[in-house]
Amino acid sequence: MKVGKTLIRAEEIETALARIGGAISADYAGKDLLMIAVLKGAFITMADLARHITIPVEFDFMAVSSYGAATKTSGVVRILKDLDQEIAGRHVLIVEDIIDSGLTLNYLLRSLRVRHPESLEIAALLVKKDIQRIPIDVKYTGFEIGPEFVIGYGLDYAGKYRNLPHVAVMVEDDAEDDDTTIE
Ligand code: IMP
Ligand code: MG
Repeated sequence: MKVGKTLIRAEEIETALARIGGAISADYAGKDLLMIAVLKGAFITMADLARHITIPVEFDFMAVSSYGAATKTSGVVRILKDLDQEIAGRHVLIVEDIIDSGLTLNYLLRSLRVRHPESLEIAALLVKKDIQRIPIDVKYTGFEIGPEFVIGYGLDYAGKYRNLPHVAVMVEDDAEDDDTTIE
């Protein structure tokens, strides 16, 4: 597999995060907001989204594993790193890089709901359209995309390409439509 065509340019991502950051700032004004990024993929979305938020907010991080090194979902989710903070009575916003089958998030939502947050919502940069195996209510969505496997802007293929400033599709090695210099 190799890096293929750009799906979403860096400037388009920036515009979407500004829109979402503005909405979060308005919706949670005067509230005690804790934003939780799901590592590793969401680290870049969280960092860039955070800078479009104009209200006081705290951050925490969780790490889960869902895929191993392949591109297919296993349905098995493991918490590798739990939150540092209690969330009971707090407004919690989960920040995700991408929602594919929805299995990861469904598991996370269930494990966080039993801790009794005041509210629990989701912001996702990318949502793969109509392929969730479990319906997930996403409050803030950057982009709806097709079912293709994408990399960049935090998203990896076998651990690589997270540092690309844009989102690109992965293609077979013999495909001709690559347009980036990273091999
Ligand atoms: P889900 O449980 O199928 O919704 O998958 C969630 C996780 O799988 C994401 O947080 C990503 O880490 C990974 N993932 C799903 N689709 C992609 C993709 O197209 N590119 C890179 N990672 C993906
Ligand atoms: Mg991943």
